[in-house]
Amino acid sequence: MTCAENIRAARIASGLGFLLLCALVGTQRVASQGQNSPPSASGDGQQIFESRCAGCHGLDGRGGERAPDIATSEKTQRRSEDELSRIIAGGVPGTGMPAFASLGSSLKNVVAYLRQLQGKDDSAKFPGDVKRGRELFYGKPRCSECHAIAGSGGFIAPELSGFGANRSADQIREAIVKPASTNRFGGTMIVKTRDGKEYSGLVRNEDNFSLQLQRLDGAFLLFQKSELAGFSRQPDSLMPADYGATLSRDELNDLVSFLMSTARGAKTDAAKSKKTDDEEEE
Ligand code: HEC
Ligand code: HEC
Repeated sequence: MTCAENIRAARIASGLGFLLLCALVGTQRVASQGQNSPPSASGDGQQIFESRCAGCHGLDGRGGERAPDIATSEKTQRRSEDELSRIIAGGVPGTGMPAFASLGSSLKNVVAYLRQLQGKDDSAKFPGDVKRGRELFYGKPRCSECHAIAGSGGFIAPELSGFGANRSADQIREAIVKPASTNRFGGTMIVKTRDGKEYSGLVRNEDNFSLQLQRLDGAFLLFQKSELAGFSRQPDSLMPADYGATLSRDELNDLVSFLMSTARGAKTDAAKSKKTDDEEEE
C-alpha cells in the first residue's frame, strides 16, 4: 500500500501516528525511467527475449504454464545454434511456439542470449545488473530501511540474504511487486495513550495486558493496555505495494539480480536460514 493509501487508512483510523510512519518510510516516488542496459554480448537479444519470449518461457527461460524450459533442458542445450535459429524463426507448427521470422538479423542475438540463460556464463543468468541492484537496494526505493542483507540494513522486515537461494528470477520479482498481504511478520498498529499521545509500529508481542511495538527505526515501545485509550490495527503489510509502478523494468531486474547474487554468495548460510524460516512458518 502506498503512503497515500496509508494516509487514507490513517484518516479512517484518525491516527496521526501513521503519518509519522510514512514520514519515516518516506513518500519519495521513484520515477519510472528506462535505464540503458550495459553493453552485452547478446546485443538486443535480452530485450527481445524479455518482451517476446519470456511471457511463455519465463524471464529465466525455465518455462511456465505455456511453454517448456529452454534454459536447463538438456534437449535444448544440445541443439546447435543453427537448429535453434531454425526453431525460433519457423516456430513449431501445431504447438504454441510461434514463428519469429520477423526478427531478422536480431535472431542470432536472441540465440546468444538463450545460450547465456543456459548458463555458459553464470552471471548472465541474472536478468539485470548486480551492482546497480545493490545501489538500488541501499538507495532510492529504500529497501534497506526495512530489510537487511548480510547484516546491513533495517530489521523491521525479513532479512533477505538467502531469499533468492531457491527462487527463480520471476518468483523474486513477484515477491517485490506483489508482496504478501498476509502480514506474516506482524501487522502495523497505531496506539493512543490516555494522555493523548499516538505511536505506531509493528506488533512484536501482545498479550492480554501488554503490547510491544517496534518502530521503523528499530526502537521498541512497551505499553500496558490499561494505559491506552485505544488502538487500531492496519490491515496491510508494511511492504510497499507499488514497486511494480514506481520501479522501471530494468530497476526491478537489477534488484532481482542483486538478491540472486547475495543468495549465491551465502549459499550455505542461506540454506540454513531458509530452513529455520520454513520451520517457523509451520
Ligand atoms: C506463445 C508462447 C510462446 C512464445 C511467445 C515463445 N515460445 Fe518458444 N515454445 C513454445 C512452446 C509451447 C514450445 C514447445 C513446442 C513443442 O512442443 O515442441 C516452444 C519451444 C521452443 C523451443 C524449442 C525447445 C526444444 O528444444 O525443443 C525454443 C528454442 C523456443 N521455444 C524458443 C523461443 C524463443 C527464443 C522465443 C521468443 C523469440 C519463444 N520461444 C517464444 C511457446 C512459446
Ligand atoms: C517500509 C518497509 C519496507 C520497505 C521499504 C520494503 N519492504 Fe520488503 N517487506 C517488508 C515487510 C514487512 C515484508 C514482509 C511481508 C509480510 O508482511 O508478510 C516484506 C517482504 C519482502 C519480501 C518477501 C520476503 C519473504 O520472506 O517472503 C521481499 C523479497 C522484499 N520484501 C523485498 C523488498 C525490496 C527489494 C524492497 C525495495 C525495493 C523492499 N522490500 C522494500 C517491508 C518493506
